[in-house]
Amino acid sequence: MADERPRWREDFPVRWDEDHYMTRRELAKFLTLGSGLLAGVNVLIALIGLTDRTPAPPARRIAGADDVAPGGSLLFRYPTDDDPCILVRDAAGRVDAFSQVCTHLSCAIVHRPGEDVLTCPCHKGSFSPREGLPLAGPPTRRLPRIVIERRGADLVATGIQV
Ligand code: FES
Repeated sequence: MADERPRWREDFPVRWDEDHYMTRRELAKFLTLGSGLLAGVNVLIALIGLTDRTPAPPARRIAGADDVAPGGSLLFRYPTDDDPCILVRDAAGRVDAFSQVCTHLSCAIVHRPGEDVLTCPCHKGSFSPREGLPLAGPPTRRLPRIVIERRGADLVATGIQV
């Protein structure tokens, strides 16, 4: 008599006696513990995010308080020597400073004496020299502001407002 077993059983043997069954209760326990573990990891990540406080960059003298004439500007580096910035003094004597890196594609913005605008020569973007807000061209984000304090006869950079 010929063997009645279908051929697929030889190609895909199923050994029921070796198979491991999982009850609904075990599955529910596994899913509950897995979900609890993920929730715990999320809480841990949130706590790390709350406690990770990057220290403020150190204060750095930029220039003498009278070194920049009204309507003029000054290039400087802050907080490191790899971070170009620009300080602008308006006709009334107000001083504002920003990162010199354009928020569009990172070209260096410039200020022409007497002009009331910061311009980016790469794609004709422009920014307000008072607020660092984009005025024209492709940039859509404001320039990071460098906080400037007058300390005696000096202008000192004390922080960055992104
Ligand atoms: S890089 Fe400044 S406008 Fe494009």
